[in-house]
Amino acid sequence: MEKLISNTRVLVTGGAGFIGSNLIEALLLQDNEVVCLDNFATGSRKNLLPFLDNRKFKLIEGDLRNEADCRKSVEGIQYVLQQAALGSVPRSIKDPVTTNAVNVSGFLNMLVAARDAGVKRFVYASSSSVYGDHPGLPKIEEETGNPLSPYAITKKVNELYAGVFANLYGMEVVGLRYFNVFGKQQDPDGEYAAVIPRFIKALIRHERPGIFGNGEQSRDFTYVQNVVHANQAAALADDPEALNSAYNIAYGERITLNQLYNLLREYLSEFDPAIATIEPLYLADRAGDIPHSLASIDKARRLLGYEPMYSVKVGLKKAISWYWENLK
Ligand SMILES: NC(=O)c1ccc[n+]([C@@H]2O[C@H](COP(=O)([O-])OP(=O)(O)OC[C@H]3O[C@@H](n4cnc5c(N)ncnc54)[C@H](O)[C@@H]3O)[C@@H](O)[C@H]2O)c1
Repeated sequence: MEKLISNTRVLVTGGAGFIGSNLIEALLLQDNEVVCLDNFATGSRKNLLPFLDNRKFKLIEGDLRNEADCRKSVEGIQYVLQQAALGSVPRSIKDPVTTNAVNVSGFLNMLVAARDAGVKRFVYASSSSVYGDHPGLPKIEEETGNPLSPYAITKKVNELYAGVFANLYGMEVVGLRYFNVFGKQQDPDGEYAAVIPRFIKALIRHERPGIFGNGEQSRDFTYVQNVVHANQAAALADDPEALNSAYNIAYGERITLNQLYNLLREYLSEFDPAIATIEPLYLADRAGDIPHSLASIDKARRLLGYEPMYSVKVGLKKAISWYWENLK
């Protein structure tokens, strides 16, 4: 049975972003009061527009790096769903200092604020990047390698801090290692855009999307609604063994970027037949990228009751319909 958070007060940090705004939508539909802390560094006000008139929604425009903003945002909160961070491996390679300040110091500020406010549980976004150079496939939670980027270090440090806070202060913490999430509201623009919205936008505009490397690298692409469910499962898990741990959150299958490209082209050509003949542009390899990624989701299934309900193909079709309406 899928567990849903309802009739309580939840903080979503990074709620103006891709995953955060999908979380807020679900939480409001389930009759929760939702507080969003965001500084709009990468998120957008447009993602929050549907919620602004809802009396159960409160926006705190503030920064994780500011202790007072963190303390204000956790007042009266039961569950913290910590999504705010600077994502993107290449961004962290270009500017490791800012990524560290937000993702490590900001994360620590949130942990301290949540501890002092006595929140029930702190669920946070980690990342598949913590597996670094470990060659094993599928990725199993206990077997991680050396981080390959500053971003990966910040997520690893988040897990270390969460573990220490659980041990020292008895906090209930759960980390979710997301694997390449996609879906509506993911930003297609800018230097650090994720691959799926970037490909979709280029194809809709009849441009040739760039693929780094030969396109044979593989990823466990995960539709955002699976992540929405995972956050709720993590917040509500009642097995004590489930706490103070990190989990792979993915679909549990992988496809190559070339396969992804072909699927997107096929699905989009149902809207616009001219897209069927657009070829990708192959570019040089990108630093910090891992060659393959595939999650074992056994641990999340067993301890959180996580079950991904949307396959990659179903998710891609849903995402494409949304982008077609919003970008064309
Ligand atoms: N999207 C993925 O595939 C993926 C994969 C692994 C992990 N994650 C993690 O999931 C979380 C959400 O990612 P997303 O894809 O929704 O990214 P996103 O960039 O769309 O959202 C992040 C949000 O955090 C906000 N933010 C950034 N710095 C902030 C600060 N200093 N103070 C307050 N708010 C701040 C941004 O404005 C944005 O709204 C992040 O922690 C990310 O590292 C995402």
